[in-house]
Amino acid sequence: MSEPLILGIESTCDETGVALVRGRELLGDVTATSMDEYARYGGIIPEIASRAHLESFLPTLDAALERAEVDLGEVDAIAVSAGPGLVGSLTVGITAAKALAVSLGKPIYGVNHVIGHLAVDELVTGPLPERFIGLIVSGGHSNLLSIGDIATDVVELGGTLDDAAGEAFDKVGRLLGLPYPGGPHVDRLAREGDPGAIRFPRGLAAAKDRERHRYDFSFSGLKTAVARYIESLQDAGREVPQADVCAGFSEAVNDSLTAKAVAACQAADCSTLVVGGGFSANSRLRELAAQRCQEAGIELRIPPLRYCTDNGAQIAALGAAAVRAGVEPSPLDFAPDSSMPL
Ligand code: KG4
Ligand code: ZN
Repeated sequence: MSEPLILGIESTCDETGVALVRGRELLGDVTATSMDEYARYGGIIPEIASRAHLESFLPTLDAALERAEVDLGEVDAIAVSAGPGLVGSLTVGITAAKALAVSLGKPIYGVNHVIGHLAVDELVTGPLPERFIGLIVSGGHSNLLSIGDIATDVVELGGTLDDAAGEAFDKVGRLLGLPYPGGPHVDRLAREGDPGAIRFPRGLAAAKDRERHRYDFSFSGLKTAVARYIESLQDAGREVPQADVCAGFSEAVNDSLTAKAVAACQAADCSTLVVGGGFSANSRLRELAAQRCQEAGIELRIPPLRYCTDNGAQIAALGAAAVRAGVEPSPLDFAPDSSMPL
């Protein structure tokens, strides 16, 4: 008998994603985004995002079914992001998922969006190993996890004490007057600069904190250091070397992320590191992670760019893993959890 067909629905933030997965095979996925609407506001406007999900959901569903060449009636289970995310955005996806579950008479699984960022790698690279270290880096999260079965056994080793990696990049982008979201622009400029020209602090280096925060991240002190540096030049009427600032800042963030991820693998004797989340599009992160994992004999798995940003495939993949692990479906009255823990 073939494996169950899972419909995955994603609507935590600005992306409406729908995907169909059978086992670990991605049959089709389509993503619509309302990001273009936010450049002029300098940030996501939740009401606009919710409305955009409402408008995009059915066309996205139709397009995904067509791409996968399946009928809605063939779906065996529905997986949907239950959180964390914007409550209005989540509500649209969850309501649509529940309506489909009831009308099709199929089970529904409310899953954790953040874990989905790692689960999606199964669809690309193949089954995940028995145990691995996960690094999730996005606009809202920077987390190190120890993972057995991705649907049932996730242990948080550390997280961000303040800003997430993507958030810190976006804030530095704003300081430099770059368009929103600043992350990709700061990444691009960093490639043109000298990472050694300005040395910014790594954070959490104080001896007393070192052990307790071994796997935690802190980027707000770094962001403040960047702000002070820019201000001091501006006050002196000097030009800000944008590319060098971006390169020095990017080096500090990615040094911290990759050093801690490799240390976590070594401490747990894990030979695989899986990286996911929108920030894993960052070119210096990819480079440094590849270099340090190779030196340490660790296999590095990072999904291709289109599966790093929010998408329905990550939710379908995690739903498929939940079905495989025999997880009970969610009750039909489950609610969105905007700050869902890992
Ligand atoms: O996972 P994601 O799509 O959405 C969240 O769930 O947060 O991540 C988006 C974040 C944004 O902060 C964006 O600026 C950042 O990832 N980002 C980048 C790059 N591409 C996206 N940050 C740095 N370098 C990039 N190349
Ligand atoms: Zn995400």
